[in-house]
Amino acid sequence: MPDTPITNSPIVSAYRAATPGSAARAERAARLFPSGITHDSRYIEPYGLYIDRASGPRKWDVDGNCYVDYFGGHGALLLGHCHPEVTAAVQAQIERGTHYGACHELEIAWAELVMRLIPSAERVRFTSSGTEATLMAVRLARAFSGKPKLIRFNHHFHGWHDHMTSGHASHFDGTATVGVLDAVAGNVLLCDQNDEAALARLLDQHDDIAAAIIEPTGANGGKLPIDPKFLHALRRLTAEQGVLLIFDEVVNGFRVSRGGAQAAYGIRPDLTTLAKILAGGLPGGAVAGRKDILDLLDFQVTKQAGAEKIAHPGTFNANPLSAAAGVAALTIVAETDACDRANRFGETLRRRLNEVFEEESVAWAAYGTFSSLEIFTNSERVAIEPTSFDPLQYPLTMLKGDRNAGLVHKMRLAMMLNGVDLSSHPGGVISATHGDAELEDTVAAMRQTVRMLRQEGEI
Ligand SMILES: Cc1ncc(COP(=O)(O)O)c(C=O)c1O
Repeated sequence: MPDTPITNSPIVSAYRAATPGSAARAERAARLFPSGITHDSRYIEPYGLYIDRASGPRKWDVDGNCYVDYFGGHGALLLGHCHPEVTAAVQAQIERGTHYGACHELEIAWAELVMRLIPSAERVRFTSSGTEATLMAVRLARAFSGKPKLIRFNHHFHGWHDHMTSGHASHFDGTATVGVLDAVAGNVLLCDQNDEAALARLLDQHDDIAAAIIEPTGANGGKLPIDPKFLHALRRLTAEQGVLLIFDEVVNGFRVSRGGAQAAYGIRPDLTTLAKILAGGLPGGAVAGRKDILDLLDFQVTKQAGAEKIAHPGTFNANPLSAAAGVAALTIVAETDACDRANRFGETLRRRLNEVFEEESVAWAAYGTFSSLEIFTNSERVAIEPTSFDPLQYPLTMLKGDRNAGLVHKMRLAMMLNGVDLSSHPGGVISATHGDAELEDTVAAMRQTVRMLRQEGEI
């Protein structure tokens, strides 16, 4: 959200001139939805783009403008928009029924792929979203351990349910965000990522911790990167203290590698939450992990053990359309180099953008791991060398708390004017369909954007 006036900005005026169709729709939407939007990260002043169609790494708005897409379906589209095999699988399934209210073959094939790809998956339970998956993982951990508390890491995002709100974007003192009960927030212990000593202290001080949950490549899909050494320490310390470890691989799963971050880093969590790529661009999520924990969802096992079963209905769990897309997508992930291609593009894009920043003498840096892109816009104007920028050397508040919100906002609008849709980080996720043309278009758009911002006195 901008913190500087956006009137009289040539960039904003040009954006308005290029997108009258989006403006007209935004006016209608403002009468329907709070802020005119249906997902917080789609909020942008003066209004967001209205997209008409998409294909591979690109999308077109209602005014006919084309964009290289770095939203990637909020991370769901490793295979790009409308992958032909995923589309065909969904089309074939829609003719056969969208909901049977019964078991079906595709849910088995889908879970078999999850178990084949995710190293720690001994059992799977499908949900309808990542938020539902982390909610179920926390409930499983509390029920299994009989303990109430949950360790979370500041800034990490795990969906929007009540156990996950404090310490994400606000309330870093652990108090409840508006609408959440104090008793719920009070059972969450917040810790800084990459701070092994603080984590060890927390684990020593409390003997009633059920689990720790983490985004294994760092907060917000890697905006605040994790030192892999910390991940290994987290596994060691939680195991020593009998605390369950939940990897939230909603973004990382089937992206950073076929087996997610746990395969890339060689760490075995007790539970894993999945969504996004899991369902091939349709809605879906899952909890996977240790059989003895997921057994709490099992009618027979809990009965024999005299334990209380965790109830889990859910109208759209393992929905046939999501299963069809998921099976098609995960088969491609398993059998092709899709993850590697996206990762390679990420590495090249970050290097090329940093070369632009150096050539244009702007003290910004592109960083990220695997197929993520983050742009550091350096609100405190510290001296950096973009091509050798190491985000781990900078405090999280500097990386995340970008007080240059007005600059970031205009940068995103200018990138759109130059044919690239970056996410609000600012940055984005990369698909396996991003290729040479998208690379050159993005690099040229960034150079032009830097020049436009300089002309406007922003940098
Ligand atoms: C790491 C992580 N966990 C959980 C979620 C919530 O998933 P969903 O949006 O499917 O509810 C997200 C969503 O972006 C996420 O990035």
